Amino acid sequence: MEQKEKTPLLAVRHLSISFTQYKRWWRREEQQAIRDLSLEVGAGEMVAVVGSSGSGKSLLAHGVMGLLPYNASWEGDIFYKGEPLTEERLKKLRGREIVLVPQGASYLNPLMTTGEQVRQGARDRESRRQCREALERYGLGEETESLYPFQLSGGMARRVMIAAAVQRKPCLVIADEPTPGLHLEAAKRVLSHFREMAEEGAGVLLITHDLELALLTADRIVVFYAGTNLEEAWAGDFTQEEQLRHPYTRALFRGMPKNGFQAAAGAQPYGDNLPEGCVYEPRCPWRQEQCRQPVPYRQLRGGRVRCWRDI
Ligand SMILES: Nc1ncnc2c1ncn2[C@@H]1O[C@H](COP(=O)(O)OP(=O)(O)O)[C@@H](O)[C@H]1O
Ligand SMILES: [Mg+2]
Repeated sequence: MEQKEKTPLLAVRHLSISFTQYKRWWRREEQQAIRDLSLEVGAGEMVAVVGSSGSGKSLLAHGVMGLLPYNASWEGDIFYKGEPLTEERLKKLRGREIVLVPQGASYLNPLMTTGEQVRQGARDRESRRQCREALERYGLGEETESLYPFQLSGGMARRVMIAAAVQRKPCLVIADEPTPGLHLEAAKRVLSHFREMAEEGAGVLLITHDLELALLTADRIVVFYAGTNLEEAWAGDFTQEEQLRHPYTRALFRGMPKNGFQAAAGAQPYGDNLPEGCVYEPRCPWRQEQCRQPVPYRQLRGGRVRCWRDI
């Protein structure tokens, strides 16, 4: 795809994340939650990672931010502006150049007012003005500045978190499910602000389970399933089923309200139940013998797909 000729802002290559868990009789078990995941986000681009619950979306975000839980280990490469994103670089960039809007509203500091969190402690007039402006953008009145997180509704808390994150004019924004708890208009407004950030040159990685919302604003869609990516498509490819490259993406397409909600049978496999080969094989209408082998992620029609067939 075009972006790849330039150095992408963020490049994740062959990322795998595993958890060590202790099971019966203190037996140690490694469970792979993400397997061979690759994606890129260019400057000025909004890429949406779309997948159902448990597909590994938040893990990807936490992996990039260097915020994985203690029992997790990872391998693969993560590059930011062409250089490995080391622990040391992350310490300097996290919360400034690279910002995560985390999933769930519980990340606000319960002891600080909304205004203090958005201003990050600054008290000068300019910071106050910027804070007011940021909150106003998300439809939050002046009175919200003196409220504590417990006094906010879930939707308000989300918007405060987003305002606090974008206040820092980041180069890379990772927004983990920023819209649940918001009604459609508010959700669209939030996404349009992320879109604006991309227009102004930032790279935006939007994480969502809502394909329709993603299609409203993203340039590209990366489809997640059971800890890996099955397809990378342009948003425009979703106008016609035939343009989509993977049977799962096609099933998602048919499951959209405008296409009559035709859900595919079966469920996503997890953790210790992952098939050796294609993770979609058990549900796939086109499965064949070779799908039991690991399937490479390859280029197809200007996008990428993890499927042997050229559908
Ligand atoms: N702390 C953890 N310990 C063990 N497994 C975990 C942990 N966090 C996540 N996982 C596993 O990783 C999978 C992906 O989780 P997550 O990235 O949160 O999914 P999503 O954000 O797509 O809903 C989960 O199904 C779960 O099995
Ligand atoms: Mg999540």
